Amino acid sequence: MYRTVVFVLVALLTLSLATIVDAEMSEKAKMGRELFSDPSFGGTLDPAKASGLSCSDCHADFDEATNPDGRIRAGHSIIGVPHRGTAKGGMITADIFARSAGGGGFCYQHFLQKVPSNKVDPTAIPEDQAAALMAYFEHVSGDNKGPQFQITMLDKDAASAAADKILAMEGDAQRGWKLYGQACNVCHPTAKKSGIGSQLVKRRPPRDLEKRKHQIAAYIRKGGFIMPFFSEDRLSDPDIADIVAFITKLIEEKK
Ligand code: HEC
Ligand code: HEC
Repeated sequence: MYRTVVFVLVALLTLSLATIVDAEMSEKAKMGRELFSDPSFGGTLDPAKASGLSCSDCHADFDEATNPDGRIRAGHSIIGVPHRGTAKGGMITADIFARSAGGGGFCYQHFLQKVPSNKVDPTAIPEDQAAALMAYFEHVSGDNKGPQFQITMLDKDAASAAADKILAMEGDAQRGWKLYGQACNVCHPTAKKSGIGSQLVKRRPPRDLEKRKHQIAAYIRKGGFIMPFFSEDRLSDPDIADIVAFITKLIEEKK
């Protein structure tokens, strides 16, 4: 009897160890994990063209809905990417999906190397690296389908209309400071210092403060050359109103 119990326990232990070993990351997925937060992308990028950004600056590699870490990234979590089959609102079709790392190939060229978006070839990412990223996405995703979202890119007029709506709200500068730290700080280290992004509060105050506020709000919704846009499920209209109130307060303190 005692022996049977020990036998069953040993068998169970072996089984669970086998599952742990199964879940261990493949070498390919490990390479993908390293590439994910490497601004030189494994040393493959031309340092003269690299933006200094890595995938992890704009995407989480964990489930943000269940495990938020307090940061607000412009892109969605890469959890669930292998389940999607197409990406970027249909721009990445099924036939190039894997080859372009589930759409990551677009970001690789545009955000990491500053290739203008109309010149991007999402399959220009080296094949081994694309496969490594996909292996990593598969590893961290498992069955998790990840966040459901739809991407709507705003044109100039739509972004301007969005800014009108935002500026009609009264922002809370204190809350805006916190949101700034969560969403903007990675590229604009402080509003008064430039980093990868530009200096937002200049020494000389803007001539037309209302126009400046409008410009900031519209820029967050539309994005810039390499600045990513923030959609409504990343930053709501009241969130942006708060951020604008925070930056406005810094501008006014300068006077
Ligand atoms: C400057 C920010 C930024 C960087 C850096 C960046 N991305 Fe993105 N990425 C975005 C935004 C914004 C989108 C569009 C919204 C979204 O899908 O989350 C996007 C979309 C994607 C998508 C498609 C999501 C979908 O299903 O439509 C994938 C996959 C992806 N990025 C992977 C990567 C990988 C891999 C890297 C590194 C090589 C990377 N991104 C670097 C901002 C970025
Ligand atoms: C992933 C990097 C990144 C993030 C995150 C980011 N920016 Fe930017 N931002 C840039 C870059 C780079 C530029 C320079 C122009 C360009 O390439 O788009 C820029 C330019 C801007 C501009 C236009 C320049 C100006 O002074 O009018 C504004 C406004 C701006 N950012 C505001 C913000 C705010 C507010 C946030 C947070 C909600 C934010 N940015 C988040 C990278 C970023």
